[in-house]
Amino acid sequence: MRTPILLDRPPELVALDRLGWLQAPSWQPWRTALRALLADPLASTDADTDAVQLYTQCTARTTWPTRRHKEGWFLVGRRGGKTLAMSKLAVALACFTDVTPYLAPGEVATVMLLAADRKQARIAYRYVLGLLHEEPALAVLIVGDPTRELIRLRNRTVIEIHTADYRSTRGYTLLACLADEAAFWSREHQANPDVEIINAFRPGLLHPVLAARRHLHRVRPEGRALHRLHGPLRPGA
Ligand SMILES: Nc1ncnc2c1ncn2[C@@H]1O[C@H](COP(=O)(O)OP(=O)(O)O)[C@@H](O)[C@H]1O
Ligand SMILES: [Mg+2]
Repeated sequence: MRTPILLDRPPELVALDRLGWLQAPSWQPWRTALRALLADPLASTDADTDAVQLYTQCTARTTWPTRRHKEGWFLVGRRGGKTLAMSKLAVALACFTDVTPYLAPGEVATVMLLAADRKQARIAYRYVLGLLHEEPALAVLIVGDPTRELIRLRNRTVIEIHTADYRSTRGYTLLACLADEAAFWSREHQANPDVEIINAFRPGLLHPVLAARRHLHRVRPEGRALHRLHGPLRPGA
């Protein structure tokens, strides 16, 4: 008899762990931040006690989240890994979310890499492309040749760069939006204030619940990619 595939951890985090992208000691604070964002269940280990301590220190919250957050805002200094950590998360979300049930025929879900201008947005784009190419199990998800601004994946997800402008961010079905250096977007500019940009893309965000799925690897390309990284999945893997 086959063992059913059950995940009680967020699949993106399982994937990030298997990819080793948050493994180095220097990535532990970001790993904790992403675990809190996605409500990764805690274990009774010293490492997870440290994780809660760091979470409380950074957020003044004492209770570890039990439901994934829709938004996360990170105040981190220069070269603190903001763009790279978010790029890692963007790749994991794009590759390991089954968006099909949420889409109309012909529709795609977009992971938007948003920054003050296109040059800034390309920093995240280069990270994303590098991460996808680095891992053969993920590289096979890319459809055709990525352009300077857009990567199309086989699971009906597109990763795309955009300038922070409320007009250009409307109308998309968004799996996620990475708002890089949002604190430096224009606040005063009457025509395009930062708050209007965020208000413009918020209604487009999908919030799919990443429930455990049986035999995911057999039915969807993102499931097959996860399976290639994992091997067989087990409860709590
Ligand atoms: N936690 C980390 N561990 C190792 N290298 C890191 C870490 N955070 C950032 N870096 C390195 O620092 C550089 C800047 O990262 P980046 O994400 O672009 O910073 P930010 O967007 O916060 O300015 C990159 O070369 C990245 O690899
Ligand atoms: Mg940056």
